[in-house]
Amino acid sequence: MYALLTRLCLTATLFTTVLAVLPPYIKPCKKSDPDINKCIIRSIDQLRDKLSSGIPELDAPAIEPLHLKQIRLSRGPVGARLDVNLTDLQVSGPSSFKIRDFKADVENVVFTFKVSFDSLNFQGKYQIDARVLLLKLTGQGELTGSFHDYDSDVILRARKVFRDNDTYLNFERMKVKLKIGKTNLHLSNLFGGDTVLAAASHELLNNNNNLILDEITPVLETSLAELFTDVANKITKSFTYRELFPDN
Ligand SMILES: *[C@@H]1O[C@H](CO)[C@@H](O)[C@H](O)[C@H]1NC(C)=O
Ligand SMILES: *[C@@H]1O[C@H](CO)[C@@H](O)[C@H](O)[C@H]1NC(C)=O
Repeated sequence: MYALLTRLCLTATLFTTVLAVLPPYIKPCKKSDPDINKCIIRSIDQLRDKLSSGIPELDAPAIEPLHLKQIRLSRGPVGARLDVNLTDLQVSGPSSFKIRDFKADVENVVFTFKVSFDSLNFQGKYQIDARVLLLKLTGQGELTGSFHDYDSDVILRARKVFRDNDTYLNFERMKVKLKIGKTNLHLSNLFGGDTVLAAASHELLNNNNNLILDEITPVLETSLAELFTDVANKITKSFTYRELFPDN
């Protein structure tokens, strides 16, 4: 009886292995490939369009646009306060990532690389409440802006997980450290169009560009890291380690 069951199981396993053909957009990279780093970069590049709009059959979310729900900035002493809320930010550009200096340790499943984004454009809503000298600036409206020449060091580490009689990969949250390039911000409808106040406030913001960036950057790092890790895990959940990195 046991022998029969084992045979049945083996046959079933063989069938699943043969039938579970990788979809055409998943390109495996052989462990023995001396150029495995290039192979992985190429595979990711070929996946870019899919990643951009999401892969419903793998339950992988679209990476375009990236949503940031809320960023709160509250700084400065009484008399020079700056209180800004940014909400419903939509960031377009995550799918334009470029990967370089990719180093894969496929055995230990650790990947280190650099990612750059030419530009990330965002739009959303802002509320501002600021006091500068004797001026009280309050208002709300649309915020638009862009980040240019973003660069980041990334470490992506996975654990091998044994399930369904096979080995799968599960990634720990990616570590992303953004280096900031150029930025510009624009707030529309400041003070319902009162140009003197609006100009004063824009100047305040531009003179304190780092204040806003210092708040946005960590949120952007965390959000990009969570998103990319989630997508990576949706892919490695559906395919075994050996399917993605066959021995030969
Ligand atoms: C930002 O949001 C917080 C919490 O929702 C609120 O208390 C604060 O007044 C808001 N700031 C501005 C400038 O609207
Ligand atoms: C995994 O293998 C064991 C025996 O090796 C078997 O009892 C079990 O049913 C298998 N599970 C699956 C999901 O194939």
